[in-house]
Amino acid sequence: MKIVYFSPNDTTRQVTVAAAAAMEPGGEQIDLLKAPLTEEVSVGAEEMLVVGMPVYAGRIPGLCLSSLACLKGHGGPAAAIAVYGNRDYDDALLELTDLLEAQGFRVVGAGAFIAKHSIFPTVAADRPDEKDLEAIAAFGRECQARRGLFSDSHPGEILVKGNRPYKKPGSASFRPAGDKTCTNCGACAAICPTKSIDPADPTKTREDTCLACAACIRVCPTGARAFRGVAYQTARKAFELKCAPYRLPETFYRA
Ligand SMILES: Cc1cc2nc3c(=O)[nH]c(=O)nc-3n(C[C@H](O)[C@H](O)[C@H](O)COP(=O)(O)O)c2cc1C
Ligand code: SF4
Ligand code: SF4
Repeated sequence: MKIVYFSPNDTTRQVTVAAAAAMEPGGEQIDLLKAPLTEEVSVGAEEMLVVGMPVYAGRIPGLCLSSLACLKGHGGPAAAIAVYGNRDYDDALLELTDLLEAQGFRVVGAGAFIAKHSIFPTVAADRPDEKDLEAIAAFGRECQARRGLFSDSHPGEILVKGNRPYKKPGSASFRPAGDKTCTNCGACAAICPTKSIDPADPTKTREDTCLACAACIRVCPTGARAFRGVAYQTARKAFELKCAPYRLPETFYRA
């Protein structure tokens, strides 16, 4: 089994690994935050591929597309997972499913699960919770049960919620920055997937390249890096209200 994820704030990794653990023990983990894929990764016809992506503006992160294009399937099973911050996953799960099918996989299950919002962490703060973890494990078991059911003579089909053409990719309105508690440890610049932090002055952020992924906030040992400012705080309050209703996991299976 191969387990692939991009997870700047760690929730996509948690969900993806939990789903994979319910399929079979072990598996090779490929962490796209540590290093994007640049060479083909071939996945055997008997091997399960599990891919987890965070939802960014209703799509999968554009940064991951070149890595996902390196995954080469041979008609084997795959599970597609989209993790989102309780607003909506829009077309992200469909996009990931389409992409994996185009790369030669048979997607046996696709699941959208809810986790703490990485820009507004008071939204869905306690997700995934116990109920989510049960749903994630049930999804993993169902994918495992279906993995051997399909072949060239019985290809099956999976219908996933979302629209084609997918919604236009968007970018975040806020970027994190550091404050005077920065000790210049370098952790944020080292983890940033877009090299948007100058190691010489880690309190600043390149606005044009930063994804707002929050990886730098997660690794900062002093709490120096954060989303700040009146506009951000105002947007956070509005977002908390808008995204207050508890959304449930949604799953789709090949039949
Ligand atoms: C740039 C950006 C855009 C996002 N867009 C959405 C969105 O459209 N819908 C949503 O519900 N959550 C959205 N989120 C929240 C993430 O999908 C969610 O927090 C996810 O759990 C992050 O995964 P991670 O913890 O693995 O980084 C967005 C987060 C970021 C950073
Ligand atoms: S600077 Fe932007 S892109 Fe880089 S880790 Fe921080 S939030 Fe992510
Ligand atoms: S991780 Fe925090 S303390 Fe370390 S350089 Fe970045 S902002 Fe400064």
